[in-house]
Amino acid sequence: MNRRTFLKTASLAGASAAVLSETVKAGASLSSVGRQASDVRQPMILSTWDFKLPVNQTASRTLQEGGTLLDAVEKAIKIVEEDPRITSVGYGGYPDRDGHVTLDACMMDERGNAGSVVFLEHIMHPISVARLVMEKTPHVMLAGVGALQFALAQGFHKEDLLTEEAKKAYAEWLKKSNYLPPINEQNHDTIGLVAMDASGNLAGGCSTSGAAWKMRGRVGDSPLIGAGLYVDNEIGAATSSGLGEAVIKVAGSFLVVELMRNGKSPAEACRLAIERIIQKQPKYKDVQDFLVGFIAIDKQGEVGAFSYRKGFQYSLLRDGVNNVIDAEYVMK
Ligand code: GLY
Repeated sequence: MNRRTFLKTASLAGASAAVLSETVKAGASLSSVGRQASDVRQPMILSTWDFKLPVNQTASRTLQEGGTLLDAVEKAIKIVEEDPRITSVGYGGYPDRDGHVTLDACMMDERGNAGSVVFLEHIMHPISVARLVMEKTPHVMLAGVGALQFALAQGFHKEDLLTEEAKKAYAEWLKKSNYLPPINEQNHDTIGLVAMDASGNLAGGCSTSGAAWKMRGRVGDSPLIGAGLYVDNEIGAATSSGLGEAVIKVAGSFLVVELMRNGKSPAEACRLAIERIIQKQPKYKDVQDFLVGFIAIDKQGEVGAFSYRKGFQYSLLRDGVNNVIDAEYVMK
């Protein structure tokens, strides 16, 4: 089920998705309004796309119930990972060109700690494994069989993550086996989430099954600290979605945070990072439906986003209200 079909089905089924959040048009002032330093801080949660799931709400509730930032990030992302209808993250994710579901995820906390897993198979919650890599090992990243071995040693169980729906889509893809599928509004990818707690501390996480029909072993931006996610508790946090190869080449999320360090607003920083990708790699302009989007939050609680192409959305929970916002973009 692609995103469009899923949305239609959810709505026909009378799912409560529509009441989870409001949608706000591109350029709405929401994306550029910050809080006053004197404001009493409430949790702020910013995440990529609108998965029609209570992602931000779960993170916010976790914080309000006394959970840590990492608890909030992990619990929220797990909801997307375990939903078989989401074909670009976790269980139900579309497989690689050899028919294997391989997952990538990372986390970063307010102290600059980081954990990541790449090319992980058979584990429903890569975000939880990434957290344990951070908390229980001297390393940042574990890959492939090593990541799986670590997960099993930590008590995770092997599961078959290839759903019937994903098998059907794979069989359909095999008929033509076109490589380099676009990552776009229909085949969108990462759940990237950054959270600010009541003390103004920041953390984030990212999880994906990566590009559908990718080469076996391919890893995108999402589990790479500095590419798919970066958190600097003094400055802000950023995360990305879209074609990972393009994001990696400019260390995209790190770039957004560094631009904020140099005085840019989150929205400006995201826009400049998109422009940097196009300036350095103009060939992406010719890739059909090419999409990369960034979202960012700064230490003052101002948020922003920018996308190469129309269609990228993000979800912002602020003052207890979740809004889905159409990001501004370069190309229609
Ligand atoms: N942005 C996810 C990926 O390219 O794998």
